[in-house]
Amino acid sequence: MAQFKLPANSQIKGGKVHKAQPGARDIKRFKVYRWDPDSGQNPRLDTYEIDMATCGPMVLDALIKIKNEIDSTLTFRRSCREGICGSCAMNIDGSNTLACTKAIDDIEGDVNIYPLPHMPVVKDLVPDLTHVYAQYASIKPWIRTQTPPPPDQERLQSKEDRAQLDGLYECILCFCCSTACPSYWWNGERYLGPAILLQAYRWIADSRDEATGERLDELQDPFKLYRCHTIMNCTKTCPKGLNPAKAIAEIKKLLVQRQV
Ligand code: SF4
Ligand code: SF4
Ligand code: FES
Repeated sequence: MAQFKLPANSQIKGGKVHKAQPGARDIKRFKVYRWDPDSGQNPRLDTYEIDMATCGPMVLDALIKIKNEIDSTLTFRRSCREGICGSCAMNIDGSNTLACTKAIDDIEGDVNIYPLPHMPVVKDLVPDLTHVYAQYASIKPWIRTQTPPPPDQERLQSKEDRAQLDGLYECILCFCCSTACPSYWWNGERYLGPAILLQAYRWIADSRDEATGERLDELQDPFKLYRCHTIMNCTKTCPKGLNPAKAIAEIKKLLVQRQV
């Protein structure tokens, strides 16, 4: 039988254990992926014991407490702390989600925290988003028009046309979906992945945009779009409750419709 081994430098080693302060009664253990590119060391899993009596309710509260009070070298992204900026996306308890909206109480036992899977890591919990943002730029995420705007007002939409963007405009580009998608894991260099394809459909569905034909032409590609095999991990994991798989299906439907 074929045997697969991880390269030696990618194997995660046991890390440091930071014990709770004496007297702590309500202890929760957070096991956090650590990797410092400057150290030359393998990644490791550090354990932090937190007294929940002195910690806020969300996983992000625990990470901030660790950084402020226990280990200032821990590195992660966050900004809004209310599920709007998408910065704090990571893998918590086996699922990709937002640390700021994930309640610690919802996790039984130890809290395992890793960076988003299948992305290069910059440091600790920070993935390198360079490639995925280049893919985002490639779909030209802005309104493209040929006609001049009305002289005295903005380009308006009817309420019905505006409603076509519901379920799309709420995407915060956290990339929980793309990094949960097996097709994106294996073909991420060429497959755009669910986050970018949902964004692509957001502009196709916008009644003010006048480049629908070009947008569909650009997506008609065996890799950019058709690597989606409707596995649905993307929809299952989206912390905003969106349905990227449906958006992808809508693009495929439009491509079929314009051929018949
Ligand atoms: S439905 Fe498509 S985009 Fe979503 S996880 Fe499956 S293959 Fe990936
Ligand atoms: S569709 Fe959901 S999971 Fe994917 S990037 Fe947007 S908000 Fe994040
Ligand atoms: S900090 Fe902004 S989404 Fe979590």
